[in-house]
Amino acid sequence: MGSLRTRGFSHYRWQTGQVAWLLHRITGLALVLYITMHIWVVSSLQLGEGPFEATMAFVQSPLFRFLEVGLFFCVIYHALNGLRVIAIDFLGATEKHVPIFWVLVVVGGVLWVIGGADMITHAIEQMNHGDPFFPSLGG
Ligand code: HEM
Repeated sequence: MGSLRTRGFSHYRWQTGQVAWLLHRITGLALVLYITMHIWVVSSLQLGEGPFEATMAFVQSPLFRFLEVGLFFCVIYHALNGLRVIAIDFLGATEKHVPIFWVLVVVGGVLWVIGGADMITHAIEQMNHGDPFFPSLGG
């Protein structure tokens, strides 16, 4: 049995179901990270209006608009693939799991491009109004 270091990832076959599962785990963990940050942002309200406004200004900078495009991808992928997993587990869709995956890639891709374009447009408008790309806390 080779060590993890010598075997690397080459022994994986990277079939659709495996890639779909890996992306589901990555996006699930990203959503947990996002919810943690979201709770941190909202909890700054208990420090008073000033700290809350400063934290909100921090996360409303163009940088975070771009990060939101990634978050939006995670939300769309996790939600749609989650429905696919439920269909496989409970609706007997196992045999069709590959075509379902590709249909959802198209549906999710269209949603992502439409929503993502809106977010990027917003970020560019902010920068045109002189907002710095990187946020500054309390600035
Ligand atoms: C539309 C909403 C959602 C749907 C339909 C959904 C669906 C699912 C399903 C079906 C699974 C099990 C996957 C499997 O057994 O292979 C799962 C796993 C998971 N979900 Fe969600 N989920 C949703 C929202 C969320 C949110 C909001 C979070 C984070 C805050 C989240 C985090 C996770 C994590 C961490 C896993 C475990 C992934 C793994 O073990 O690989 N999910 N989700």
